[in-house]
Amino acid sequence: MKNALAWRYATQKYDPTKKISADDMTEILEAINSAPTSYGLQPFKLIHVKSPELRDQLRAASYDQSPVTDASDLVVFTVNRNIENQHIDSYMQRIVEVRDVERERLNRFQENIVGVLSTLNSAELVAWNAKQAYIGLGFGLVMAAHLGIDSTPMEGFNKERYDEILGLTDDHSILVLTFGYRSDEDHTQHHKKVRKTLDQLVTIK
Ligand SMILES: Cc1cc2nc3c(=O)[nH]c(=O)nc-3n(C[C@H](O)[C@H](O)[C@H](O)COP(=O)(O)O)c2cc1C
Repeated sequence: MKNALAWRYATQKYDPTKKISADDMTEILEAINSAPTSYGLQPFKLIHVKSPELRDQLRAASYDQSPVTDASDLVVFTVNRNIENQHIDSYMQRIVEVRDVERERLNRFQENIVGVLSTLNSAELVAWNAKQAYIGLGFGLVMAAHLGIDSTPMEGFNKERYDEILGLTDDHSILVLTFGYRSDEDHTQHHKKVRKTLDQLVTIK
């Protein structure tokens, strides 16, 4: 794992001829889906954009960053703009299915979640949802590296424009993650990784 984390980097130029297998892509999506989230709510969704036409439009809304069209696969993370009771209900229903518990036993848990989230305005809710999505992003990055697949996390895009291109109204685009295989010509793969020393990062008290 240590080697995989040292090997990965935010890929700037992909080899557009190299494609990820469907099995590997599923494994990455499952890793994102396995990330922990507050209350287990998973308040984000993924759009796996396969249409080349849409990817061309998204690139234009991403400061022309080439990974948007040249990576094998592109996933957009989206979050809800508002609290969706329906979303919380379906989460409760999923717990019932998976754990075989009575629905009524979850009422207190549901009230607790609704109580906390209803204190947030739309911008705060988007920020809270986004925090959860970033954990998923991390899991996707690590799984890709583990599989020897290159990736690029991206926030550098026009989020409102993405929403228009993808036809989103209730949901809001917040993050992009591309996957594929690096081009030999991507010189950034040879850059040394710049990170804090552990002493700079960690304080012992
Ligand atoms: C949330 C997030 C957003 C990022 N947005 C972009 C982006 O839009 N374009 C890009 O080329 N790199 C982007 N990066 C990559 C970072 O610049 C990169 O991870 C950082 O410089 C560390 O380098 P490394 O990942 O190659 O080790 C983003 C990274 C993260 C975590």
